[in-house]
Amino acid sequence: MTTLSTLNKFKKEGTKFTCLTCYDSMFARMMDNAQIDTILIGDSLGMVVQGHDSTLPVTVEDMVYHTANIARSNKHALILADLPFMSYVTLPEAVANSRQLMQAGAHVIKIEGGSELCDLITTLAQAGTPTCVHLGLTPQSVNVFGGYKIQGRGDAAADKVLADAKAVVAAGAALLVLECVPAALAKTITEAVDVPVIGIGAGAATDGQVLVMHDMLGMVHGRAPRFVHDFLTDERNSAHSIEGAFALYQQSVRAGVFPAEQHQFS
Ligand code: KIV
Repeated sequence: MTTLSTLNKFKKEGTKFTCLTCYDSMFARMMDNAQIDTILIGDSLGMVVQGHDSTLPVTVEDMVYHTANIARSNKHALILADLPFMSYVTLPEAVANSRQLMQAGAHVIKIEGGSELCDLITTLAQAGTPTCVHLGLTPQSVNVFGGYKIQGRGDAAADKVLADAKAVVAAGAALLVLECVPAALAKTITEAVDVPVIGIGAGAATDGQVLVMHDMLGMVHGRAPRFVHDFLTDERNSAHSIEGAFALYQQSVRAGVFPAEQHQFS
């Protein structure tokens, strides 16, 4: 079974690891068979499962329900679960909502933001709850950004993401997710912090990679983002199966073949 110690060891030895989003039991079993290292019950479920155009409508109850479904069906992966939009504004509500997710089977709570999260991160760590902090393009702040745009471009913006990363790690964050930032910035951050960093649209230098499951199976509404690869129709998926796509993703990330140059931003 994958634990935080496993991921820390992977970082030290340079072994790249995988993460996929997952929302239901059957896919969780297939990811178990493919030995996917970590699973994220992402609030992206608001878009790919519920049909909303953002993650904002997702509730704590939704997250608890999907987390429990995954925890029952996957024994290999470290399980990360998102605290949804506005469910961690105050410390008491953040603690109460994290408790629900942990009791549903999460191993790590994922939260979006920067140094403003430090008190919460320390409080949760002291209460036995590790956090993963999502930086860069944080979809819960889509209305602040004015759309889903690359973050951390230019010196000031890059310095801010780097400073946030260092601050949340100093406060006790166990993992970072970096979404849609220039590959060079992701490399700098990965080298600057001593916790594992998971990238999505952040280039090949991060310690791990995450993709939304539907995207990597080619189930994309409109145009696929640049950082996505369709592993289902990839000719190396000789079984032409979903489980084969998960296994190919696992092999490709481990081997450092995915992501390639064309999947990253500068
Ligand atoms: O909710 C989600 O799926 C995520 C990933 C895009 C990292 O946060």
